[in-house]
Amino acid sequence: MEYFIDSASIGEIKEAASLGVLDGVTTNPSLVAKTGKPFAEVAKEICEFVNGPVSLEVVGTTAEDMVKEAKELRRFGSNVVVKIPMMSEGLKAVKRLSSEGIPTNVTLIFQPLQALLAAKAGASYVSPFIGRLDDIGQNGLDLVQDILTIFRQYHLKTKVLAASVRHPTHVLECAKMGAHVVTLPVKVIHQLTKHPLTDSGLKTFLEDWKKVQN
Ligand code: G3P
Repeated sequence: MEYFIDSASIGEIKEAASLGVLDGVTTNPSLVAKTGKPFAEVAKEICEFVNGPVSLEVVGTTAEDMVKEAKELRRFGSNVVVKIPMMSEGLKAVKRLSSEGIPTNVTLIFQPLQALLAAKAGASYVSPFIGRLDDIGQNGLDLVQDILTIFRQYHLKTKVLAASVRHPTHVLECAKMGAHVVTLPVKVIHQLTKHPLTDSGLKTFLEDWKKVQN
């Protein structure tokens, strides 16, 4: 399973990359807004620093605008994956972009048949939002499982990129299901490294080691 960071903060991205397990980055307009910096500055900085795929999202709402914007976004780097919202116009844009070899990530997926449509249009990734479904009393992990089942059934190559991940249990369940990618807030990346027994075990080892020094 690949680990992406869900952030537009270059500081967080560098911090996650320093762990040596980062495969890519996803952003969205809200995450860019949180940085307080102009979009172009943020996108340039991220694309230059990251070797793997970087999802940058379009804000146009017609296929024509999305395709035009996608080509502008690709100028930031050959690693740019164009993030397209799930909607009819988005599907048209994905079809056109995929026929030109431009990778896409269809976002805001909340039911499995949206994911199937995106895959049929040629999306490279689909992003089901786990946490936001949990928030309204539905099971976000069931959505990921349904999409994986459908994609396996039809041997679709589109990768399932689990998004809106809120805690390590989401990550564990995605790994058990065989999701291709999870995109994680920096907080969850740090949570994955931790266990209280690891901390107390290390504390004891270090205290005992001091006892045998001269
Ligand atoms: O980037 C899309 C997704 O991961 C957003 O997550 O936490 O805003 O629901 P969240």
